[in-house]
Parts: sequence; structure tokens; C-alpha cells
Amino acid sequence: MNKTSPEDAARALLRWYAEMGVSEAVEASPADFFAWPDAPPRSSQLDGALGTHAPPARPPTARAPIAPIAPSSAPSADEAIAAAEAAARACDTFDALDAAVRAFEGCPLKAGARTTVFTDGTPGADLLVIGEAPGRDEDRLGKPFVGRAGQLLDRMLAAIGRARETNALISNVIFWRPPGNRTPTQLEVAACKPFVERLIEITAPKAVLLAGGVPTQALLQVTGIMRARGVWREIETASGARFAALPTFHPAFLLRQPAQKRLAWADLLALQRRLTGD
Ligand code: URA
Repeated sequence: MNKTSPEDAARALLRWYAEMGVSEAVEASPADFFAWPDAPPRSSQLDGALGTHAPPARPPTARAPIAPIAPSSAPSADEAIAAAEAAARACDTFDALDAAVRAFEGCPLKAGARTTVFTDGTPGADLLVIGEAPGRDEDRLGKPFVGRAGQLLDRMLAAIGRARETNALISNVIFWRPPGNRTPTQLEVAACKPFVERLIEITAPKAVLLAGGVPTQALLQVTGIMRARGVWREIETASGARFAALPTFHPAFLLRQPAQKRLAWADLLALQRRLTGD
């Protein structure tokens, strides 16, 4: 009978984890990936363990213990939302709002993110695009939609004569990267929402393009992007202002499902018609 060596068994187990989508090993003590010099891309860490690449550099062995967070230091959900509402309401200009978002401590995601990712593009443009949340590239560079999905978004906008440098502003409903790019929770969305609504009020776009199901649910309270896309609706902010909004597919979804680009193109043409008044 064939006897499996412990090494082969460990490799088989790692390979199974990789196939299941596990891309990081978790150790007993927390690792600060930001403080890890020359960290290889996440996927190559497992590749290394599987022997398909040279093993990655080891993290520093002695790590400073992470201080426990006193439970009383974190605001409750209601306190965080109330603080966001007050801070957003106090802003009358884009620059003031930008500073208020960066100073805000009520969203739990901020503690695990490298940067605050608020907007990129042209404040005051008649088109505002709102996506979901920053990913790894956005967190690194501090700008929304700069990874692969962002490059596709730029190409989509260019197809209707739009660019962030000249006539579009881009943001998200969440300003800090959720760990592992997970979907933001309702509390995280609620804590950022007063700032998103104030951004819409201050920049007063002619149209808001909602990229994906998360911003569509957050700002229109409509679920199911398949049915919601392509249908004009109105965002009503807490102060009662109304803005035309068009849900469409998220570019990351289009990267996975290119056949759906046909429908996204129809949405872009509807957006262009609304913006140019044709
Ligand atoms: N996906 C988003 O929804 N927003 C970004 O900024 C990047 C990717």
C-alpha cells in the first residue's frame, strides 16, 4: 500500500486550501502586513508554500504586542452615525467635507486601513460616480477606483466622453478598505452615508451613476442590481434634496462577466443622454 509522507499530506492540504480560495496563512499572533517590507503579493505567499515559487521573505519574528482596545473607547453605532451626521452637516464646501471625512473616527474600518479613500476627479462635475469600497490598490494609493476595476471604469467613462481629470467625480459609499475586500456591513455603510449624501448635496451633480448593488442599496434602498440597473431613480438625502441616479453593474462584476457589458453600455448611453440633454 502507498504510504503518504507527512510532507505530501501537508502539501495536499495546502493545495486544497488554495483551491478553496484561502490565500493567506493566519498565525497565532497578529502580523502587521503594512510593516512587512517587500511583502510578496498575497497569492504568491501560498504559491511559495506549495513549492511553485521561491519562498517569500519571512516576516519579522519579534512583533510588538498589539494593545487591547478599551471597549469604552469605541463609539456605539448610534453615536457613530450621529457624529457623522453632525460632522457632514457642518460642511459647506468640498474641501471642508474632505477634511471632515479624514478626521472622522466613527467607522470601525478606519483602524485596519492604511489610508482614507474619499474622492478622485473633478469636484463640481455634473457626473458623480459612486462605487462600493476601496480595495487593496485604492487603500495603498488613497484614491478610489485605481485597480483593474477602476481602469475598466475609466474606459467605460471615456466611451461617453468622460474622464475624472475633466468632467467626472468618483467616490464610494465606504471610505476605508474592508478587510479582505469583504462586503461592508450595514453599520459601516450607515457611518459613512451622511458624508456621501453631503458630497452629493455639495457637488450637486446632474446625474449620479451607482456602480453596483452596494451603493444602489445604500442610497436608493433598492436591492437586486440585475433588476435595478438601467432604471432612473432619485436619491433623496436626509435633508430632502433629490438627485437623479442610475444604477449599473460594478466594473469588477463586468470583469468576471464580460457578456454583461452589453447592458452596461446601454446604461452608459442612457447616462450620456441625461447629461447632454439629448
Ligand atoms: N471597487 C469599488 O467599488 N471602489 C473602488 O474604489 C475600487 C474598487
